[in-house]
Amino acid sequence: MTDTPLNPPDRHFDMAALAGDERYRLLASSIMPRPIAWVVTCDAMGRVNAAPYSFFNMFGADHPVVALGLLPRPDRPKDTAANIIATGEFVVNLVPYALAEAMNQTCIDAPPGTDELDLAGLATRPSLAIRPPRITASPVAFECVQRHRLETGPGQLLIVGEVLHAHFAGHLLTGDPTRPRIDADALDLVGRMHGPTAYTRTRDQFDLSRPIWQDSLPPEQGEPKEKLENDNG
Ligand SMILES: Cc1cc2nc3c(=O)[nH]c(=O)nc-3n(C[C@H](O)[C@H](O)[C@H](O)COP(=O)(O)O)c2cc1C
Repeated sequence: MTDTPLNPPDRHFDMAALAGDERYRLLASSIMPRPIAWVVTCDAMGRVNAAPYSFFNMFGADHPVVALGLLPRPDRPKDTAANIIATGEFVVNLVPYALAEAMNQTCIDAPPGTDELDLAGLATRPSLAIRPPRITASPVAFECVQRHRLETGPGQLLIVGEVLHAHFAGHLLTGDPTRPRIDADALDLVGRMHGPTAYTRTRDQFDLSRPIWQDSLPPEQGEPKEKLENDNG
């Protein structure tokens, strides 16, 4: 096949040959959608700070581990980074569509000590085990403590946290109360997409059954099923 404007050639990019903002653009515009951690921290004086972070995910359940990627700012560290370094504590609140605007307001580059939740008119309630509060309107919040901190580049941090407590709004929980399920539609979370302004909703879902090796074997060769169903990643 010849390369024409209608059929442009595939390309590769050597990361080492690119400027930082180009690397950011290529990665952040393709590794998506990303969940958003709406992170509440306190500084050493107890002043509350909030900001959204989409370099975020869970990385295990035993221990229950989440991680945040905090990029440097040219003039000073992000308040979230400074506060986690100072206190080792943070709350991750999740962001439903109804709170997307409010979340966006809290990404403002306000000076240290500014309570972005106050600016956005958001109430908080105390956490159980740590000083930073959680956002009352957020339907899911995780109280976290820092377990590891890696500097993955100049001023660029990867914070690995352990979830101590998980809070869920009652209307999200369905089924057997001893082993509740989360109603994903009711949760209606948003995710971060490419560029500074694009988001997506999590309502466009489809299901795929997982292939199981055992099911392709004659019954006498199959192992007990419980053994094989633990791979939940
Ligand atoms: C949806 C969204 C996701 C963001 N994700 C990140 C991120 O993963 N890492 C980061 O360093 N900044 C991220 N930002 C930018 C920070 O929120 C922004 O720099 C903010 O001012 C930092 O506030 P702080 O100094 O109070 O921590 C994101 C912004 C938005 C709106």
